This record gives sequence, structure tokens and C-alpha cells, in this order.
Amino acid sequence: MKKHLVAPSLLAADFTQLGKAISLVNESEADWFHCDVMDGRFVPNISYGMFIIEAIKREAKKPLDVHLMIVEPERYVDAFRKAGADIITVHYEACPHLHRVVGQIKESGARAGVALNPHTPIHLLEDLIEDIDLVLIMSVNPGFGGQKFIYQSIPKIRKLKELISMRNAKTLIEVDGGVGLQNAQKLLEAGVDVLVAGSSVFKAEDPKQAIAKLKNLGHEVAKFV
Ligand code: DX5
Ligand code: ZN
Repeated sequence: MKKHLVAPSLLAADFTQLGKAISLVNESEADWFHCDVMDGRFVPNISYGMFIIEAIKREAKKPLDVHLMIVEPERYVDAFRKAGADIITVHYEACPHLHRVVGQIKESGARAGVALNPHTPIHLLEDLIEDIDLVLIMSVNPGFGGQKFIYQSIPKIRKLKELISMRNAKTLIEVDGGVGLQNAQKLLEAGVDVLVAGSSVFKAEDPKQAIAKLKNLGHEVAKFV
């Protein structure tokens, strides 16, 4: 059985201690850094942009998974790639020409992700799924960390898994929002490949251990498969 990935979201870290948070992730069992970019237009909140991504990249020893919650992401794809993004995820809802944007991301040398808001159905990706490296299922409404997980995301993930298997695509499934030990096992069973976790990692007493616990889920299942 293939092991899932864990991507801690730096949004929940203490930004006066960003360097420490980066070292912690470097030394942990985490696989990627999840970086949330918010523009105050696509989502109500504003977080940070390429200047911070570029700083994270200088210290990070693992790939940067950059989640763009911005309108007109095509204007910034190349800048985020230049700043150090390894995976660039844009929102379906922000891209009237999604096929073109996915191509642009790949051309930049990054892997291309597409995120779906909680109300956006899976079937809208039917004609594009083979071209996408990763689909990010938002399990909260994007814009803020620390929100309550939306349970309808689980059947949605199953549906996406079905579509990917049916097409024999290599697309990874990532879930983002309200993820922690209380639901991670169920999410993995539904077909998730990448767990994003903000609060459940950085607000934990021992964030490194919280990452290890998320990473080591599913071991018992794996042993018997
Ligand atoms: C929300 C962001 C998430 C957020 C997750 O819009 O996309 O990545 O940081 O935070 P938690 O895990 O606290 O829900
Ligand atoms: Zn995110």
C-alpha cells in the first residue's frame, strides 16, 4: 500500500517564529510545506504572497505546496514558481479558462493542482482530470484556519477517487480544512493521498509528534494488505 503524504499548513504557525516553524517541519516526518495565499477578493482574508514564499523556500528542505486562493491566478503563476513553488494549486471557481491555467502551471515547471470549494461538484473535472496532478478538496470554506470540518467532503472524496481510478489517472487527492486525528483515518480510507493540517499540527502541544501521528496512520491496515 502506498503511503500518504502530510503537508502542514504554515498559516497556523506563529509568524514571529516562522524560521522555527520551518525547521520543525524540516525535521519532522512531514512531506510538504502547505502555503496558503489569500488575496482578500477570492476569499475574505489576506495572508501573504511571493515575498514570504521566497523566504520559506530559502529554509525549506521539502517541496512547497502553494494553494492560491486568489482571483486571476494566471497573472501570478510564474511569479510563484520563481519564488519557489513546487506544486501550484488554483481554484476551479477562480478560473474560467482552467485548461489554459493548468497548462501554464505545467509549463512553468511546477505540478498543477486544482482546488474545489465545498459546493463545487466533482463531475466538473471530468474533462480535465487526466491533466491535473492534484485535486484539492476543500473541507471548509477557504479563507481561515481552525474551522469545522464539513462531513460531506468524505463522499465527495470517494467520488473523486472513483473518477481517478476509472480514468486510470495519476492525480493525487489532497484534503484541506479541519483535518486532524479525529477524521484523518476516515479520509485516508475514502482515498486521500495528501493530508493538509494547520491547527491540528501547530496548535498541538508537540507539533512534531502531531505530524508523526498523522503520518503513521494506516500502518496496521498496510501490514495486512
Ligand atoms: C484554509 C486554508 C487551509 C488552512 C487549514 O482556507 O486553505 O490550508 O490553513 O487550516 P486548518 O487545518 O486549521 O483547518
Ligand atoms: Zn490550504
